[in-house]
Amino acid sequence: RSDSNYDYIVVGGGTSGLVVANRLSEQENINVLVIEAGGSVYNNPNVTDTLGYGKAFGTEIDWAYKTTDQEYGGGISQTVRAGKALGGTSTINGMVYLRAQTAQIDAWEAAGNKGWNWKNLFPYFKKGEQFQSPEKYSFLDGSGVTYDPAYHGFNGPLKVGWSSTQLNDGLAQKMNTTYQNLDVPVQFNKDPNGGDMIGYSLYPKTVDSELNIREDAARAYYYPYQNRTNLHVWLNTHVNKLTWKDGKDVTADGVEVTLSNGTTTVVKASREVILAAGALKSPVLLELSGVGNPDILSKYGIETKLNIPTVGENLQDQMNNGLQFDAKTSYNMSADYVSYPSAAQLFSNHTAVGNELLRKLPAYAAKVASANGNITKARDLQRFFKIQWDLIFKAGIPVAEILLEPSGTTYDTEYWGSVPFSRGNVHLSSADPTVAATIDPKYFMLDFDLHAQVEAARFIREIFKTEPFASMSGAETSPGLSTVAATAGDEGWSDFIKQNYRSNFHPISTTAMLPKEVGGVVDTSLKVYGTSNVRVVDASVVPFQVCGHLQSTIYAVAERAADIIKKQL
Ligand code: FDA
Repeated sequence: RSDSNYDYIVVGGGTSGLVVANRLSEQENINVLVIEAGGSVYNNPNVTDTLGYGKAFGTEIDWAYKTTDQEYGGGISQTVRAGKALGGTSTINGMVYLRAQTAQIDAWEAAGNKGWNWKNLFPYFKKGEQFQSPEKYSFLDGSGVTYDPAYHGFNGPLKVGWSSTQLNDGLAQKMNTTYQNLDVPVQFNKDPNGGDMIGYSLYPKTVDSELNIREDAARAYYYPYQNRTNLHVWLNTHVNKLTWKDGKDVTADGVEVTLSNGTTTVVKASREVILAAGALKSPVLLELSGVGNPDILSKYGIETKLNIPTVGENLQDQMNNGLQFDAKTSYNMSADYVSYPSAAQLFSNHTAVGNELLRKLPAYAAKVASANGNITKARDLQRFFKIQWDLIFKAGIPVAEILLEPSGTTYDTEYWGSVPFSRGNVHLSSADPTVAATIDPKYFMLDFDLHAQVEAARFIREIFKTEPFASMSGAETSPGLSTVAATAGDEGWSDFIKQNYRSNFHPISTTAMLPKEVGGVVDTSLKVYGTSNVRVVDASVVPFQVCGHLQSTIYAVAERAADIIKKQL
């Protein structure tokens, strides 16, 4: 370990942090230190196994954050999982590699983030990617996998493709036919990673197709580069807070850390401190460092260095439910089928649903604002909600995601409304950095979010009533028609959904990239407003939820952030 002075300290060696550290350390004269609370999981079978989703849950590499009892979400606490390891959450996630709809990234710019649009982000999706073309792998013959080479990068660090456990028995074709046979058909989408996600498709994952092991941020962005003498990683080291230079400017000069042996010490950074600790940690580290809402900080005896009251607000996650059906075939392989219906495909009366929602937006905005003491303003929320409404009802983004996973003699499904309106928050609950923060996503706070969840469940029932799937499946085993009747309305579904959902593990926006006057915490260079050298580069900055899953977008944002930082050198 070197104790020399570092140019950059990256707090958190996760999905985003390792991208930034890798790219900054491409410059030989720049010293980068990554500080990661977890250890190496390079040889951890719970990580590498491509069929091992969930095996790492509850182990020492899972932060397993707990939410408050959810007032609108069944009164129960939820566990929000996140990886505690070099590679961060990319070491325990579902490996799904699905981006966003073009219009959603364009909405970041419409909300006031100049230059953050699909056109500018798309090259960064490709820059990070090492797409493994399926035709090279004979085990994918007959799997139904398709892609468009124009949408992919082939020379980046992150391997994306399909694993050798992908089913190739023609199930994909039967699923596709079923979707075509629906009353409102859902078309096959050859490649959902080009910005148009609507339809049914077989998506790629972050896997090494050759070795059939998980690809994560450490395998992609760190291990092949670990011999760089200017790239340093401290493992099992917990960052407690930033330290500040004396003087008028708000300039960080390092971080306070607790090492694995329990010693607390300060490490210096001469250029910048980059927070990449994830959406449920980066805002809390800011608060522990005196950046946040003075009313909250003073409760814990923390002196306010910078008054940015929206630190920790705007928390957005999705809610995940599942339906299960008996399968008439037994499956011992995996398969990755997704469908993304638009509002017109999901809601039979979508114009009426849209009109009703439009009328409710002012009340939604007022409710969110009032729940956080008007720290986020109703007028700003209303504008953002209208942007979201336009995305759903004008731009036609996917309004739900439906995953179908054959498993043994069961068809498992998972589903969620893509863009819930509910907004919650995360805040410190003590000046002691080892004490858990208070996390309140406010799941199901707004009734549209339940409605989207209900319609997605109905949509799945429709699929299993439609041929050829109807003949391939048996009874619905969960929830089952005796628990939720075929004719159930939102009320009839509500108990099942609210007692059986889980976090979709996609928390974002807790230090949102937005103009400061509308609640932003970081500017378009991801610098914290009012600081000269503190940035946040992780899921915390993503201003609005994306369809698709988060990692691809987060990798791309981190790639772009690294370029922005390098240009400012
Ligand atoms: P990330 O969590 O990767 O990194 C933060 C790092 O900071 C961690 O390594 C952490 O240990 C470290 N850290 C935190 N506090 C610290 C401190 N005080 N000091 C030092 N280090 C600290 N997405 C997707 O696209 N496809 C998918 O299939 C899934 N599936 C999925 C499943 C599960 C179970 C989860 C939990 C999440 C997903 N996701 C997903 C979401 C996706 O993986 C996730 O959004 C990103 O990996 C988050 O990247 P970040 O860089 O924001 O944080």
